[in-house]
Amino acid sequence: MIWNRTSLLGLEPLEVQEIETILELAKEFKLHLQKKELPSKNLKGKRIVNLFMEPSTRTRVAFEIAAKSLSADVISIASQSSSLTKGETLKDTAKNIQALGADAIVIRHSSAGSPLFLSKTIPVPIINAGDGAHEHPSQALLDIFTLREKLGTLSGKNIVILGDILFSRVARSNLWGLKKLGANVTFVGPSTLVPRDFEKLGANVSHNVNESLKKADAIMLLRIQHERQSTSHFPSLEEYTKVFGLNMDRAKLLKPNAIILHPGPINRGVEIDSSIADSKNSVILQQVTNGIAVRMAILYLCANIPIKP
Ligand code: CP
Repeated sequence: MIWNRTSLLGLEPLEVQEIETILELAKEFKLHLQKKELPSKNLKGKRIVNLFMEPSTRTRVAFEIAAKSLSADVISIASQSSSLTKGETLKDTAKNIQALGADAIVIRHSSAGSPLFLSKTIPVPIINAGDGAHEHPSQALLDIFTLREKLGTLSGKNIVILGDILFSRVARSNLWGLKKLGANVTFVGPSTLVPRDFEKLGANVSHNVNESLKKADAIMLLRIQHERQSTSHFPSLEEYTKVFGLNMDRAKLLKPNAIILHPGPINRGVEIDSSIADSKNSVILQQVTNGIAVRMAILYLCANIPIKP
């Protein structure tokens, strides 16, 4: 087991062995969850604070359940109900959470780099639950965990990520993680949302959905992230759906065993048809369930290492 970090800020800096450590531990925790057993590796007596400055359902709830499943105490703070609304800075908020005895802070923030900033500001483990369009490491780890359950080794597998790549932290974290594990990653979508620049990071870039679908061992759909876009990147949502949405006709191009992923929230009838989201090849809800075990592993590894003040 290789793990010496106190914070998980992204997948870009991780070594392959560190990713393997998280995934192996997640597998162990998944067995405990299935048997409804308290794992002997736990966080009894530790305080985990969830600081969510952007909306979340899956990530916040899964981190909360993960912490409780490890017998930690967990406190969740939403930005609207915190003193941030009264002008307190993020730095002061974090220092106060430290003073209240947090053993780890899970943070979601609209600004890329906020988790890194906090990790340099306070001697408390920081776990990135999504920062702007930068990284969403726990999401990519649960995606990879689910992909490995379904496909086995990812070495040489073709993973297609279709949609709004430009504004997606999920796409970036998956690219880093999947490439490290030997997968071929293809980003697909309109050229305005999938610029050729992503090739410099190691992704294949395509604007041809049909051709990309034929080669895919797995396809991940991403929603359009309107909240991060100040201008429109395509003529209309209807046109986007017509050209890039995964509908029944287009899904016929996929290999029979190709699996379908989506980090959620899904916009039914936009990037994915309801019939595809609910089809037998869809693992969307399995991703959500796996998110608990994966986040247990992340919390356990980060909150258990003593850090120097
Ligand atoms: N995938 C994801 O981050 O979902 P939430 O925004 O609901 O946490």
